[in-house]
Amino acid sequence: MSVVGIDIGYQSCYVAIARHGGVEVITNDYSERSSPSMVGFTPKERVMSTSAKNQSISNLKNTITGFKALVGRSFSDPVSQSEIEGQPYEAEQLPGDKIGIKVNYLDEAVVLSPEQITAVMLTYLKQITQKALEKPVSDCVISVPSYFTDSQRRAVLDASSISGLNCLRLLNETTAVALAYGIYKQDLPEEKEKSRNVVFIDMGHHALQVSVCAFNKGKLKVLSKAADHLLGGRDFDKRLLHHFAEEFKVKYKIDALSRIKQTARLRNECEKLRKLMSSNATPIPMNIECFMDDKDVSSKMKREEFEDLCKDLLERVKVPILEALRKSGLKRDDIYGVEIVGGMTRVPAIRKIISDIFNKECSTTLNQDEAVCKGCALQCAILSPTFKVRDFAIQDTQPYPIQLLWEINGEPGDMTVFLEGDSIYHSKVLTFYRKEPFVLQVKYKDQKALPVSNSNIGKFLIKGVKANEEGESTKVKVKVRLSIHGIFFIKSATLIMKQQAEEMETGQIEEIQNVESDTKAEPKSDTQASPADSETQSSNSDASLQSQEKPQDDVTDNDTMDSTVPQPEGPSSTSENGQQKSDVSTAQTEKSPATKKAKQTYKHVDLPVDETTYSLSKKVLEEAFEKEVAMIQSDKLEAEKADAKNSVEEYVYDMRDKLEGPLSQFVNEEDKTKLMSLLEATEEWLYDEGEDQAKKVYIERLADMKKQGDPIVARMREFEFRDSSFNELGHVVVRYEKILMEYEQGDEKYNHLSKEDMEKVQEATTAKREWMNSKMQAQQKVPLTADPVVKVSEITMAKENLYAIVNPIVSKPKPKVEPPKDDQAVEGEGGDETGKEENKTEDKMEDVPPAPADPPVEDMDVD
Ligand SMILES: Nc1ncnc2c1ncn2[C@@H]1O[C@H](COP(=O)(O)OP(=O)(O)OP(=O)(O)O)[C@@H](O)[C@H]1O
Ligand SMILES: [Mg+2]
Repeated sequence: MSVVGIDIGYQSCYVAIARHGGVEVITNDYSERSSPSMVGFTPKERVMSTSAKNQSISNLKNTITGFKALVGRSFSDPVSQSEIEGQPYEAEQLPGDKIGIKVNYLDEAVVLSPEQITAVMLTYLKQITQKALEKPVSDCVISVPSYFTDSQRRAVLDASSISGLNCLRLLNETTAVALAYGIYKQDLPEEKEKSRNVVFIDMGHHALQVSVCAFNKGKLKVLSKAADHLLGGRDFDKRLLHHFAEEFKVKYKIDALSRIKQTARLRNECEKLRKLMSSNATPIPMNIECFMDDKDVSSKMKREEFEDLCKDLLERVKVPILEALRKSGLKRDDIYGVEIVGGMTRVPAIRKIISDIFNKECSTTLNQDEAVCKGCALQCAILSPTFKVRDFAIQDTQPYPIQLLWEINGEPGDMTVFLEGDSIYHSKVLTFYRKEPFVLQVKYKDQKALPVSNSNIGKFLIKGVKANEEGESTKVKVKVRLSIHGIFFIKSATLIMKQQAEEMETGQIEEIQNVESDTKAEPKSDTQASPADSETQSSNSDASLQSQEKPQDDVTDNDTMDSTVPQPEGPSSTSENGQQKSDVSTAQTEKSPATKKAKQTYKHVDLPVDETTYSLSKKVLEEAFEKEVAMIQSDKLEAEKADAKNSVEEYVYDMRDKLEGPLSQFVNEEDKTKLMSLLEATEEWLYDEGEDQAKKVYIERLADMKKQGDPIVARMREFEFRDSSFNELGHVVVRYEKILMEYEQGDEKYNHLSKEDMEKVQEATTAKREWMNSKMQAQQKVPLTADPVVKVSEITMAKENLYAIVNPIVSKPKPKVEPPKDDQAVEGEGGDETGKEENKTEDKMEDVPPAPADPPVEDMDVD
């Protein structure tokens, strides 16, 4: 399993992986650690991240950025509207008030959801991670802003599914930072000691998030959080953009904001200027050549001027910080440290605001850009069964109160099931009394507190409910849960029916110990929601609420997650325990002992639940997944096509140079002219008809040129290696001729070899000598522009043949003669001369240099 942490920022993304016993941030295909959150669509392919950024100015309408602010939002949401308005691309309202982003892709108008765009970005991040890890990637932890609502979280999970990733947990960005901070700290207070309280502030390109966390050894607890989801670097850029646009209107009589390209260019320049102002107190110049109407523009700004211009924005920085502090219940002096991350915390004025609030210097223990993704990778490592990492428990909270609404006999009922600050990954059990299926509507209680305009979470239809045999309501227990991702879902709905005693033998019957406590407020029927009932329940409520710590069996009760198909919501095997903070006065824990009646038996029947949430439906998700796979495939083919085209282009330029240079002596004028004109024609074709052709066409073109070029290249290669090959063969022939001569002279070294064998040696050596001489002479008569008489490979073969015949004969060992015993000592001292000689005569093939490689052949797949 892969251990991967992904930070999807509004402006840039980061990926960290666990490797070599640590967590490291990977680089992308441009060797950069940060990958711009941008996706571009062209008539040929998709371009992602840095490549998308590089082409953005020339393809603004089809380059999508800012999708983080759109994901999980409805089209009519004012934030969506202002986001879309500020972007050069177009968007439309789709059924269900969904957002459709319009792009031109492969010369067709395509509408993609923000989830799909996010998935494209995730696909890119997955690809660069796979390259870094050199293995497939599926499991990961993805960060989301801590203020993200249910629909926004579901949308990110959908995007992860579409890209084929298996998100083990959506981790709140500031919580990821807190984990990255705490896990390495060796000096955290013991469990029983006073916690160390640390404030984390993350200010990025579009949002400011604050969380206050309490640390003890091995755990962190999020005490409070607050955010301004509309305050980040881009708001400061916008302020500068308007400032300079106004100035240029007066100074140069141009309206930069009237054209999208100029707006984008000026915005980029404003950001550059702003960053420079962080590290320089002197005035910073801004010069843009040929900006508009052929006019160069220039201006400058000083830090104080910038701070003055953005006074109100800077003022807003204080708000969530103070709010988080207030919600935490801590005083300024209780804060141990303030850790700042996110690019905008490099702005000196922002640092000052923060340190003034806490009366302490801001701390940058963590890498400001990479802390979020590292925290995610650490969380992934904790969740991974294959990775050993120090356990660190995270108790995170959900940001907004969640309410359940229902109707009973035309009367509305409601109950707040989760409060702001309730632990996530936490269940509660509600008891209803019904005769028929019923709907639970779930929504956030306070719309104003939300960063989105839609407060709905979903509708859940509890099916299969029926009256008991007496026609009375039956008890239905509904277990609701905030998943590890911070998403609401119904874990189970159970019908609890009284059983006849004899049914006990069927084995389907369970005993319920706390019958009395559960049945105490039980109305006799739907219509009997009496005042007595409401006394023990929340207003106009016919449901009772029980808090439930995460049951043990639930720890292993993971819903399976498929890496390629949509995954159902489900908990993962973390060890967080929920914490009840209900405002419902009737809340009772299931474990509390009740005053028992006589033993009563009940049958538990699991009820099906139909849910309508903001997750994409299985069908839509599968379609989006298939579409993404098809787009990946198309990108791959395009990349291969580009490679094939590049090969043609390279061959043209390379051959042209070489024909005038090293290859010129190996080609006659006629062939040279012919090939030159083919190269020129191909070059022209590349800029014209050949600009965009199928991969196969490029392969054929290359083959056409190589048909003429390869023989010339081969002649040069043959020439380069021919002499040395002849030399090697000659060397072997001479060696064997010398052995033959010594044999003839009766040399003792060879007197054990038979005559027949030596005749074979003579025959083979002479034949090769003659073959070599004749080939050398013939080759000398042939010009360099003609094909060689003999190939290097043939010469090498001849040498190997000769060796194969002769060597086994001449290296035959002399038969051992048992020396007389007395002589042994002498022999031992003097060594075996014959043996030595034998070794000397042995031809070692390793001494012969290897044959030159054949000229390289370019290999290409034909599609
Ligand atoms: N030295 C600097 N001075 C001023 N601003 C800077 C500096 N470095 C980065 N920034 C700003 O920080 C912002 C990017 O920060 P970061 O990468 O944390 O954002 P993000 O994670 O992409 O966005 P978000 O967290 O809002 O989703 C940009 O607005 C950028 O201009
Ligand atoms: Mg960020």
